[in-house]
Amino acid sequence: GSGADLAGRHVVVSAGGTREPLDPVRFLGNRSSGKQGYALARTAAARGARVTLVSANSALPDPAGVDVVRVGSTLELREAVTKAAAEADAVVMAAAVADFRPAVYATGKIKKKDDREPEPLALVRNPDILAELSASRPRSGQVVVGFAAETDDVLPHGRAKLAAKGCDLLVVNEVGESKTFGSEENEAVVLGADGSETPVPYGPKETLAETVWDLIAERLPAAPRE
Ligand code: PMT
Repeated sequence: GSGADLAGRHVVVSAGGTREPLDPVRFLGNRSSGKQGYALARTAAARGARVTLVSANSALPDPAGVDVVRVGSTLELREAVTKAAAEADAVVMAAAVADFRPAVYATGKIKKKDDREPEPLALVRNPDILAELSASRPRSGQVVVGFAAETDDVLPHGRAKLAAKGCDLLVVNEVGESKTFGSEENEAVVLGADGSETPVPYGPKETLAETVWDLIAERLPAAPRE
């Protein structure tokens, strides 16, 4: 980190994994713990930023000195991130967001019907929050950063995703059932829309977070506007 280089800046970080409800007791979810996003929030606060952390279903305690907004589903996360992003210098989407949600929410618990096979589960697309943020840029000079969780062909998929989403930086990391999700360490390559590639070797999630803020700080307009 570099002292208080984010002083006067407002940054938004999303963390954790969305849950898409099927009925009052069940959901479709993912394995994100929130650790990478919380590391980003803590390190930004330590560098002087005002931090809004939009946290989806993480069991982690609120970091000191950070405004935490707790959400459940992708639509809730979108609402909270979009609201906070209106006043932000940078937005970092570290949350694992569901691409699809159940087409129907059953207001009562779905019952098992004897002798009958279950209905196939119908899904609909969720909005792509990162693509929306990248396209809208409510504040001029705002830096938008995504993560890409990939299980194979990590770099080619990451490059394609950077182009598709339209963000300034994309942090490409490999995931598996017990890889990256929930662990204290990560390893990544940060791709820039300008063609830059910054490898971050295997180490604590804080180390990757510091590198992400270094790359964001380089891209922010010179003078804080507050
Ligand atoms: O929480 P941990 O246990 O520490 O694990 C960290 C992590 C693996 C969750 C994190 O490092 C990570 O990779 N987060 C992004 C996970 C993800 O959703 O990746 P994706 O490749 O499916 O999505 C790409 C980007 O688009 C992400 O920034 C995601 O937030 C965003 N997205 C995805 C779908 C959608 N509908 N809207 C989005 O904004």
